[in-house]
Amino acid sequence: MSAYVMAGPAYRVRFVDPQRHYLRLRGEIDAAIADCLAKGDLVYRQQLRDFEGRFAAFVGTRYAVGLNSGYHALHFALLGAGVGPGDEVITVAHTFVATVSAIVHCGAKPVLVDVRDDYNMDPHQVERAVTPRTKAILPVHLNGRVCDMDRIMAIADRHGLQVIEDAAQAIGATFRGKRAGNFGAAGCFSFYPFKVLGGFGDGGALVTDDPSIARMASLLRYNGEDRGTGEYHYHGYTALLDNVQAAVLDVKLRYLPLWIEHRRKIAALYRGGLEGISGLRLPHFDGPDHFDIYQNYVIRTEHRDALRQHLRGRGVETLVHWPKPMWEHKGLELEDPKLPETEAICREVISLPMSAETTEEHVDLTVRAVRAFFAGAR
Ligand SMILES: Cc1ncc(COP(=O)(O)O)c(C=O)c1O
Repeated sequence: MSAYVMAGPAYRVRFVDPQRHYLRLRGEIDAAIADCLAKGDLVYRQQLRDFEGRFAAFVGTRYAVGLNSGYHALHFALLGAGVGPGDEVITVAHTFVATVSAIVHCGAKPVLVDVRDDYNMDPHQVERAVTPRTKAILPVHLNGRVCDMDRIMAIADRHGLQVIEDAAQAIGATFRGKRAGNFGAAGCFSFYPFKVLGGFGDGGALVTDDPSIARMASLLRYNGEDRGTGEYHYHGYTALLDNVQAAVLDVKLRYLPLWIEHRRKIAALYRGGLEGISGLRLPHFDGPDHFDIYQNYVIRTEHRDALRQHLRGRGVETLVHWPKPMWEHKGLELEDPKLPETEAICREVISLPMSAETTEEHVDLTVRAVRAFFAGAR
């Protein structure tokens, strides 16, 4: 997940802290890696199957297919749903570029719609974007919050469309009690190191209840080959989740519920510290339907760039997801879809430090720095 990272001073509060994270779990992680290496279990072995089984159980689907990125999960999910040249897929522009690239690499056309103020797909806009060529809807559960899936699934049912969920940022988040990844034909997760469940490099998984999508993804990730028969069923890809990564992720999966609770606690502390500042919007969109897991804690202000500089000066590392609308990257060759909310978000959002290693002291320092800014330091 690339975001706009500032080169800066030695930070007192890191955005995430992979080093500290590793040191905390070192014993278990080293043991899991050593076990793979000692057995020579490097590619497509038991550790991968074990992790897939436990990951599927966590999400609540029949199958999980371990892949080397969230991107490949999206690409294979779309192929599994039958998306191909001439099709349109409705998704959002306020997402990581991989969501849209996966559609393009299927030969289909991404149709970009706007988001609501909770940063997630606006179902109204989806309804208006459906055409006879629409094949699928690709909602993105951004920042750890599930989209309004009742309305999105209703639109899909009405028009006979497939739904593929980009759940890269929403592991363990729920909508009406159902976990991200369970709503559509397939769900796509990323294990990029900054994610709530992050590996030591790239990784991802496709989850589904559909045996044909699971099988297709399993073949596509291994150059199209059925390992049992040696038959190549497709021109595929080299896109397996490495065994060592799977073993590490399996260790981390045990802590996932704790880390989700931790993030929710950190979010509540930010809220307690930052509520009431005029001109600052916080990411709390309460209501009984959602259980948010705060992959990112995104605040919003018209003074974003100045606030970011100020926080940097105080030793607080922040990220911006994302500073420029996707269609302004000329190399992507996307039409300007004219999405005012997405454009405003690009100008106004900033993500505060948030990880399993974020402490109350970090929140305190960050809150004080933000408050000082709004009290006039700007
Ligand atoms: C919303 C979203 N979609 C897709 C991806 C792609 O995942 P990956 O980086 O593992 O390919 C990411 C993560 O970076 C993401 O945040």
